[in-house]
Amino acid sequence: MRVLVIGGGGREHALAWKLASDARVEKVFAAPGSAGISQVAECVAVGGGDIAGLANLVSEIGIDLTVVGPEAPLADGIVDVFRDRGLRIFGPDKRGAELEASKAFTKEILVEAGVPTAAYGKFRELEPAKKFARELGLPVVVKADGLAAGKGVVICQTYEEADGALTSMLTAGAFGEAGATVVVEEFLEGEEASFIALTDGKGVISLAPSQDHKQVFDGDHGPNTGGMGAYSPAPIVDAAMADEVVATVIQPTVDALRGRGIDYRGVLYAGLMIKDGRPKVLEYNCRFGDPECQPLMLRLDSSLVDLIEACIDGNAQSTRAIWADDAAVCVVMASGGYPAAYEKGHVITGIDDAAALEGVEVFHAGTSRDDGGNWVNIGGRVLGVTARADSIADATQLAYTAVDKIAWKDVHVRRDIARKAISPNAT
Ligand code: AMP
Ligand code: GLY
Repeated sequence: MRVLVIGGGGREHALAWKLASDARVEKVFAAPGSAGISQVAECVAVGGGDIAGLANLVSEIGIDLTVVGPEAPLADGIVDVFRDRGLRIFGPDKRGAELEASKAFTKEILVEAGVPTAAYGKFRELEPAKKFARELGLPVVVKADGLAAGKGVVICQTYEEADGALTSMLTAGAFGEAGATVVVEEFLEGEEASFIALTDGKGVISLAPSQDHKQVFDGDHGPNTGGMGAYSPAPIVDAAMADEVVATVIQPTVDALRGRGIDYRGVLYAGLMIKDGRPKVLEYNCRFGDPECQPLMLRLDSSLVDLIEACIDGNAQSTRAIWADDAAVCVVMASGGYPAAYEKGHVITGIDDAAALEGVEVFHAGTSRDDGGNWVNIGGRVLGVTARADSIADATQLAYTAVDKIAWKDVHVRRDIARKAISPNAT
């Protein structure tokens, strides 16, 4: 079969890499893909925003299955268009993707489903929002309702900060329409974990638990990023906790979506806060996590095509994902300055040496080739150096051995990826 991956980041490189190894897959395409992804797939220059162009491409080149990486095409309704044209695609439709595109919608679904989550209020007016923040007490969390490229969440330690965040979203239009509605939410303490499942809208295929590192600097300091590294399994989500998450979070959410007539066939990614053995939902995403997808694809023994088709065809309930009994760790190598401004175009050395290590895959998130054929950095997150070994400790060591073979000017790497999984009391 011929498979198309939509997107061009590290997550999509990992998906394309996994699909390319599938016995059932004859050829993988990526749109738009990237120079890095072109090592495992044929890249076609159509962007995720051009839904009609993608549907035409799929018909023209005879794609049997399309897998969507990022949330934006899902929120824009790519699945609705493909379904109308009889094209097989994996992901929720536009209404289902609201789960990521609207935090207020997510909260409604969670409350309706009885899923534990932070107390909240939804506002379009400034004064009632300010008042509610004071009722919740400090710290308090202010969230733009819509998609805001990961920047729409402000954790406020003072009411002045909360008022500032609310004013910038509701009055100054900081995020445009995405911030015209806000969610004001109770601050939750605990440890975060990512729980990613695949669903056909009825049953659930759990993926292995994973955990990412959102802040840019060691010790979880500095601004939030898309994710500076990830590991799987995540010891905080053991088998009993995974069962609890499915029973109290994932399945009730799937049932509530179905109850609203939403036919959700895709990835359901719960961002969890776990405290005293109890999971609460921070957010939902409607796609694979990035970088979490990278260690997950390394550890997944099942055919990804089989899992995806089980969801599209309504067989999730009778399907399980098989995982290698080992661990994988992804260390993100970023451009210095990210998530703020950074320089591009520096020559990257050592990728081949790193990738030659047994158990290591180097996924490309933001690279290109210069005229001389050298790899150069063109994005904030540049490489996801991902290693698989018997334990988290060994995989971490292997990942850093690979990272240390790679260099460019101003490269930034967190040095403490997975440390919490190795010694849980580490800060
Ligand atoms: P979100 O996009 O909603 O996941 O928020 C981004 C990050 O903000 C999360 O990964 C958490 O680290 C943090 N966060 C969001 N909501 C809360 C909350 N209610 N309590 C504590 N931290 C939160
Ligand atoms: N790693 C966090 C995310 O993909 O949203």
